[in-house]
Amino acid sequence: MAMLLRSLLPRVGILLPPVGCPRLIRCLSSAAVCPPARAAVYQQHGAPDHVLQLVEVEGRELLEGEVCVKMLAAPINPSDINRIEGVYPMRPPVPAVGGTEGVGVVVSVAPGVSKLKVNDWVIPSHPHIGTWRTYIAKEESAWCLVAKDVPEKYAATVSVNPCTALRMLQDIVDLKPGASVVQNGATSMVGQCVIQLARLNDLQTINLIRDRPDLNSVKERLKALGADYVLTEEELGSLDKKTLAGRAQAKLGLNCVGGSAATAVMKLLGEGGVMVTYGGMAKKPITLSTGPLIFKDLRLQGFWLGKWKSNHSDEEFSTMVNYLLRLVRDGKLQYAMDEVQFSDFDTALQKALGQQGSALKQVLIFN
Ligand SMILES: NC(=O)c1ccc[n+]([C@@H]2O[C@H](COP(=O)([O-])OP(=O)(O)OC[C@H]3O[C@@H](n4cnc5c(N)ncnc54)[C@H](OP(=O)(O)O)[C@@H]3O)[C@@H](O)[C@H]2O)c1
Repeated sequence: MAMLLRSLLPRVGILLPPVGCPRLIRCLSSAAVCPPARAAVYQQHGAPDHVLQLVEVEGRELLEGEVCVKMLAAPINPSDINRIEGVYPMRPPVPAVGGTEGVGVVVSVAPGVSKLKVNDWVIPSHPHIGTWRTYIAKEESAWCLVAKDVPEKYAATVSVNPCTALRMLQDIVDLKPGASVVQNGATSMVGQCVIQLARLNDLQTINLIRDRPDLNSVKERLKALGADYVLTEEELGSLDKKTLAGRAQAKLGLNCVGGSAATAVMKLLGEGGVMVTYGGMAKKPITLSTGPLIFKDLRLQGFWLGKWKSNHSDEEFSTMVNYLLRLVRDGKLQYAMDEVQFSDFDTALQKALGQQGSALKQVLIFN
């Protein structure tokens, strides 16, 4: 086991003490240290419920310019699953710790750290940091300082989905007040943020969701967030031509799902409308109707937040994240989440994998 950890841990960011030094902390001088951690590690790509293991990793002395962060909360996002499966284009080399997003509190800093201090809340500036672990030692530049006046679960989840919703509404089409946006996957965290950010800008939303036993309560929940219309693909199919024509005026379509759900989004686009694909939850190709493409002059494009981040500075990212957290603090942005103790990781993972049906976003809590 010691040999296994010795080969594994340098890759996951935690160094073992030299041979002959049984407990790192006892062998250290008074330098700042990051304590031993518990981490969800995968040594090879594959089904997350098969390849992920919770392991104990030893602490280590901080190097110059590093901070030690005690994780507070971290979500399980679809892209985390895809990274572990090995199908996400950008992924860390294995072995790796799962998780890309989360919030933690700085517990110690090494010499050379200039901006962060103990007790600050931070989120990763870049993916591949491996957030599903109790402590992380990383250089100061790997972290973005965030406000502490929101619940931990919001700080933990602000940097991927709310940012994606904001960018897609702001950067793709010039949406004047009163314009409408259609989206599928409206129950997703991105979808819930789209509804509220659109409403804040006087935009209407048409929201497509999957059928389910509690359809009416989910519709009510999305309407309470500000959704104008919420309907299933089947309900869309049964709309009469006049009603459909009245609704099919959207300037922007957001495709989270693919397959027939993308066709449904296209149906509701107006003249010159743009459909942006940002997710592929159904794992099915997009099927398009030829007529609307030609006669409505529709456009298709993709969106990837990773590309936005590589084209923008850490300061711009920080400004966006803190803007969204202010909306949370002011009660203007909220989304449903399920907080789960890290010790119940297996249950959270099963839910995130959809093994128990539709589930809320799983957010791991590290206590
Ligand atoms: N391109 C980017 O930069 C970017 C950034 C952020 C997120 N994303 C992508 O956006 C998508 C949503 O992410 P999220 O974290 O907001 O989602 P989430 O909160 O984890 O929710 C998952 C969503 O996917 C739906 N879903 C699950 N399995 C499905 C299936 N087989 N067919 C149709 N719908 C299914 C769920 O619908 P039910 O409620 O019906 O279960 C729910 O709406 C993911 O594909 C993610 O990778 C992309």
